[in-house]
Amino acid sequence: MNVLGIETSCDETSAAVFAAAGGSGRLLSNVVASQVDLHARYGGVVPELASRRHLERLGPVIDQALDDARVALAAIDAIAVTCGPGLVGALAVGVAAAKATALALGRPLIGVNHLEGHVYASLLHHPDLALPALVLLVSGSHTDLILMAGHGRYEVLGATRDDAAGEAFDKAARALGLGYPGGPAIDRAAARGRAGAVQLPRPFPDEHSLDFSFSGLKTAVLRALAKHAPDGGAPDAAWVADAAASFQEALVGVLVEKTVRAARARRTGAVLLGGGVAANSLLRRRMAEAVQPLGIPLHVPPPILCTDNAGMIAAAGAHRLERRERSSLRLGAYAELDLTDPVPETGITA
Ligand code: KG4
Ligand code: ZN
Repeated sequence: MNVLGIETSCDETSAAVFAAAGGSGRLLSNVVASQVDLHARYGGVVPELASRRHLERLGPVIDQALDDARVALAAIDAIAVTCGPGLVGALAVGVAAAKATALALGRPLIGVNHLEGHVYASLLHHPDLALPALVLLVSGSHTDLILMAGHGRYEVLGATRDDAAGEAFDKAARALGLGYPGGPAIDRAAARGRAGAVQLPRPFPDEHSLDFSFSGLKTAVLRALAKHAPDGGAPDAAWVADAAASFQEALVGVLVEKTVRAARARRTGAVLLGGGVAANSLLRRRMAEAVQPLGIPLHVPPPILCTDNAGMIAAAGAHRLERRERSSLRLGAYAELDLTDPVPETGITA
């Protein structure tokens, strides 16, 4: 079954073809047209510009995904599309294209929760997952510890009380003058810095909770900056590298410690990492070191599958399609959608 995946929830226009085969499968193509250049000068994503760019790019991106996969449009068996959460105008472009394609081809449509896409990114190369699994989902808008009891069955064990991990990276990068997107910029700057050279707190909201809180860490970076450059002038590059390394160390330390604590407490069979922040080099290294003594596997997607892409949406959609789930042509775009929410206009068909 060839599944065409479409993703337009934020600032990446993406299409992919996934060849599904009985619960697993293979990505035949995964085209991502990034809008980073468009939004960089505004220091963040401008929703109206994102929607317009999706509209211009999505057609050619789908053509490219079919070409790369060497699959004709007529050989597509189903269409999977991100329908939320995300920017509603951006999502609407992908959903409209997916519905039109499904209708024109007479093929089934499946609306996919973007967060579930991030979970399945780590399963692309590991179809034989030991359940229950613990998922740390860290993106620009989420920092969730999730217990995955089965396919499509999730329980949220902990979440952020304020800033998401990616948001904290982006805000700290902006404060340090490292530009947008902040995560990769901090990752690069930190490689030249000394972790711990700038004193920052390790934010634990309260000892036994699995929740996160990162806004205090960002404030601490701002305070350290004001102390380093009291006249508001530009900080020197070596200090910025130290601050980036210290920030990354503190944030990653908390993510790893809570993940391991949850995996132990719930005796999970595997740990999965997903979302844009899972591309972070220190997080990948530290998580591997911390999970190894637990004697269970850690599944981390390659960096390209951590950030937004349609391959993960096609893979998550394929699982639902195989369980006979279908969305109707009334499927909409939903700005707010939790992982545990049912996808609207979607259900099991006879
Ligand atoms: O999953 P994603 O592409 O989009 C959302 O669904 O939000 O995540 C984007 C976030 C951004 O905040 C970006 O700064 C962060 O992921 N990110 C990183 C890295 N690459 C992307 N954060 C830390 N280190 C990285 N290497
Ligand atoms: Zn995402």
